[in-house]
Amino acid sequence: MKEVSRKPIDVEKIRKDFPIFNQKIRGMPCVYLDNAATSQRPNQVVDAMNDYYQIYNATIHRVIYELGEKATDAYEGAREKVAKFINAKPEEVIFVRNTTEAINLVAYSWGRANIREGDKILLTLLEHHSNIIPWQLLAKEKKAHLEFIDINDEGLLKMDDFEKFMNEEIKFMGLVHVSNVLGTINPVKEMVNYAHKNGALVLVDAAQSVPHMPVDVREMDCDFLAFSGHKMLGPTGIGVLYGKRELLEEMNPFLSGGDMIREVHLREASWDELPWKFEAGTSNVAGAIGLGAAVDYLSNIGMKNVREHEKQLTKYALDKMMKIKGISIYGPKNVELRGGVISFNLGDMHPHDIASILDGEGIAIRAGHHCAQPLVERLGVVGTARASFYIYNTEWEIDYLVKALEKARKVFKL
Ligand SMILES: Cc1ncc(COP(=O)(O)O)c(C=O)c1O
Repeated sequence: MKEVSRKPIDVEKIRKDFPIFNQKIRGMPCVYLDNAATSQRPNQVVDAMNDYYQIYNATIHRVIYELGEKATDAYEGAREKVAKFINAKPEEVIFVRNTTEAINLVAYSWGRANIREGDKILLTLLEHHSNIIPWQLLAKEKKAHLEFIDINDEGLLKMDDFEKFMNEEIKFMGLVHVSNVLGTINPVKEMVNYAHKNGALVLVDAAQSVPHMPVDVREMDCDFLAFSGHKMLGPTGIGVLYGKRELLEEMNPFLSGGDMIREVHLREASWDELPWKFEAGTSNVAGAIGLGAAVDYLSNIGMKNVREHEKQLTKYALDKMMKIKGISIYGPKNVELRGGVISFNLGDMHPHDIASILDGEGIAIRAGHHCAQPLVERLGVVGTARASFYIYNTEWEIDYLVKALEKARKVFKL
C-alpha cells in the first residue's frame, strides 16, 4: 500500500486567511515563493492593526484616559505573547524596527562598552550583511579583529574552524541560526555552550528561524537573539531584540529621548526600567499589536507543525528540482539540516533571467546575492535564484515552479 504522509497543517484552510492569493498575477495564479524576504499577512493581523487605529488609537504609557490605557494594554500584551513564544521574560523583549536594528543596538550599546583594541569577534560565512556590517564598523572603531568560520561543500559550518578560532581572545560571536541563502540550520545550542566555556557572548540572528520552527531562548542559552515581524506574518517596521536581563541592565541606551527616561534634569538624566530603557520615542504600537496577532496565528498552528510542513515541502521540492537538467542546488540536501529555502542556478543563465522568466508565469522568487555577498562569492557564483516557502505554500505550487523552470531551460536551450 502506498504510504501517505500525514499533513501537519491544513494549508487550504490557512490560504483562505490570505486575500492576496485570490488574485491573478499577469493572468496566472499568484505563487509567492519569496518568504525569506518577507511573508504575507493574514486577515487576523491586518484586522488587529485596524482595530487599534479605528477603535482605540492613542499613545501608550503614562496615559490617564480609557483609550490610552487600552492601547498600552494591547502593546504590552503583545510583548507578553512574543516573550512566551520564545520562552523569554517580557522585560527581556525589546521592540525595535527589525533584525538589523536589533543587531545594531547590541553592536553600539554592548559592543562599544565592551570590545577593546586587539579583541576578536567571531562571525561565520553564512551571515547576512545585517550581522556583518555593524561588527565591521565596531572593529574598525575599536581596532578589534573579525574572524570568520568557513563552510564545507555541503554548506555546513566547518566545526574544526569554529573550535580553532574559539579561544579566550574571542569576546563575542554573531551567529545566524538559519541561513537565508543555503537554508543551513546551525547547531546553535552546542555552539553557544562551547562559546560560553571560552568566555564569549553570542548573538543569534534568528530572522529565518523564529518564523519557521520552535525557538526557545532559555534552552539555547544565547545572550542576544534578533528577529523581524515581517518575516513571520506580522507587519513591517517591528522586530525584536531578546537579551538576557543582566546584560540589558548593564547596557547603556542605544537611542535616547522621550519615553525611555525616569527623570530628566538640565544636565543629567536617569533611565527607565527594562524594557522601556531601549524604546525611545513613540513606539510602533500598531506594529507590536500586529506582531502579537501573528504570534497568536502561528501558535494556533503550532511551530512544530510549521516546521514539519516546511520539511515535507522542501523534500518534495528538492526531489523534483534535482531532476531538472543543468540545475545546481546549493546547501545541505538532508532536510533535517535545512530550512525551507532553496538556492539554485540553472546552467549558465543569470539568476535575474531565471527570476524574470518565472515572473512571467506569476511566480515570485528572489535572485541576486540575498544580502549575503561574501557567502555568494564563497560559492563562486554571481548570485543565485532562491525559492523560499511558508505555511501557505503547496505541492501544486512546487510542481508549477518546476514546470516553469523546465520552460526557462528550453528558452535558453540548456
Ligand atoms: C538571516 C537574516 N538576517 C537578517 C536579515 C535582516 O532582516 P531585516 O531586513 O528585517 O532587518 C534578514 C533578512 O532577509 C535575514 O534573512
